[in-house]
Order: sequence, then C-alpha cells, then structure tokens
Amino acid sequence: MSREVSHKYGTAYQVFHRALDECEINLSRELLTRSHKALESTNRSLKLKNEEIFEVTQAITHDLRKPLASLKAMISLLGKGGLGALTAPQQEAVDTASEANDYMMNLVGDLLEAARLETGRKLMDLQETLLRPLVARVRRRFRYQVEESAIGIEVENLPETAWCDEAALEKVFMNLIGNAIAYIGDNKKVIRIGGSVDGEFVHVTVADTGIGIPESSLPRVFEKFHRGENAAGTRGTGLGLGIVKAIVEAHGGEISVESLVGKGTTVSFTLPLRNRPTRNSYRANPTAPAGSIGI
Ligand SMILES: Nc1ncnc2c1ncn2[C@@H]1O[C@H](COP(=O)(O)OP(=O)(O)O)[C@@H](O)[C@H]1O
Ligand SMILES: [Mg+2]
Repeated sequence: MSREVSHKYGTAYQVFHRALDECEINLSRELLTRSHKALESTNRSLKLKNEEIFEVTQAITHDLRKPLASLKAMISLLGKGGLGALTAPQQEAVDTASEANDYMMNLVGDLLEAARLETGRKLMDLQETLLRPLVARVRRRFRYQVEESAIGIEVENLPETAWCDEAALEKVFMNLIGNAIAYIGDNKKVIRIGGSVDGEFVHVTVADTGIGIPESSLPRVFEKFHRGENAAGTRGTGLGLGIVKAIVEAHGGEISVESLVGKGTTVSFTLPLRNRPTRNSYRANPTAPAGSIGI
C-alpha cells in the first residue's frame, strides 16, 4: 500500500472513531438525563409519601394526646386517694396503669418527633450552647432513678460549648443518659460523660458500665422501633437512638456506638464547634431567623 493510501485510510479510521466516541458520549448523556429525571420523579413521590406519613402521624398523635392526658389526671387522682383510700392491690393496679399511661405518652411524643425529623418539619435554632449547664439539667431530671439505683455519674472534660439547638441537644442527652441508666445492670454502675475539642468539632461521649449490646445487635441500634434482646424487662419505644442520630446528623455531626457485653457501652458523637454551613443547610427555611435550619 502506498503511503498516500494508508494515510487516507488512517484519516478515515480516525474520523470513524471520533464519530463512534461522539455517539457514545451522546448515548451516555441521554442515559444520564433519563436516570436523572427518573430519580427526580422518585424523589418527588418519596417526599409526597413522607408528607402523607407525617400528616397521618400528626393526626393520630394529636388525637391520642388529649385522652392520654385525661387518663393521666384520672390515674393521678385515684393514686392520691382523691376518690377514696385504696387497698394495697388497688394501689398496685393504679401504679401499673400509671406506668402504661406514661409509656403511651412517651411513644406518642417519640413518634411525632421521629416524623418531624424525617420530614424536615423540625426547625433548628442554632446557637452557641453551654454544654455543662445543659447536662446538669438532664442529670437533675434523672436524679430519683440515679439515687434509687445507686449510679455514679461523672462529668469530665466536657467541652464548654457547641454550635447547636439547645432543646434538640437536651433530647440527645435525655435519650443517651436515659439508656445508660436503663441498661446499667448490676455491675459497677458508673456513667461517664466527657469529650474533647478537635479542630472545628466537639466530640462528646456518654459511656456506661452496663450490660452492653451483643455484637450482632450493634448494626441495628439506630433503627426505628428496634429494641435489643438485652432490653427485655425494660420499658422503651425503640425510637430513642434513631431520634438521637437524626438530630446529630442534622447538625452535620456523626454518631457511633461501641459496646462489650457485660462491660458497657459508649456512644460518641460530634457537633460543630462554631457556626458553619452544615450538610443539611440546603434545607434552610428562608423565612426562619438566621441560624435556623429545618431538618
Ligand atoms: N447504653 C446502652 N446499653 C445497652 N444497650 C443499649 C444502650 N443503649 C441502647 N441500647 C440498645 O439499643 C436498643 C435501641 O435503643 P433505643 O433506640 O434508645 O430504644 P429503647 O431504649 O426504647 O429500647 C435498646 O433496645 C437496647 O437494646
Ligand atoms: Mg432508649
């Protein structure tokens, strides 16, 4: 073959290849556009479904709250002997009813909270928050259980502040300290709350010397309604850690659990130290005051 002919074929070959490449690029672009559109449509229907679930949850929880509050008032009246003195078995029955009522009220509250977090209905009021007074407040709420079970609570090296929603963080500590107390077992009975500052993040740990979580259950602890085998005999809704995780992640933080059966459990999470855009700031409510994010 002469040089001229091979050159000609070479050029044709190159042109053919370029055309093929372009075809491929166009095809991939087309495929990408289609999958993008499909994803967008799935996203829209998921959002609608979420909205529906929230509406239903809100309606049910709203309807349940009133009768539960009336029941609580009735049970309390009975328990205090307001309708006549009670015999020991009657008192026991009233106490059981009171516990069941409290459980239902907690469940209703947790369900609404979980639905709010999932559908982005919860507005976060972000600000510099003092951690020690907040933890002290939560400890006071548990003081009777702590005294009754002779549990030692140690707060050490807890960072001064974090950039977060105070009420949401209180919920985080209520759940984590509540769990540490509920699953403390009969060992040494110590709960340690501490942490450190690492660059732009505050690390917090809540560690207990309790019954621990079997390794097989660890991956499921944040799942909604999951209650471990170790929770037999304790009251709970299985929603606490899921709510805690959603709150931490809404602040752009991370959470993890380490545990050894018979030794104890440590929950660690991070929060931003200072104001900075969070992973969820795209959900910011434009009508909310600066520093608020909807999650
Ligand atoms: N500190 C802890 N020690 C041992 N087990 C724990 C602890 N915290 C959570 N768990 C386990 O994780 C499960 C999920 O916790 P949570 O979401 O708070 O639900 P609940 O406490 O209502 O069961 C619990 O049922 C329990 O099995
Ligand atoms: Mg719990």
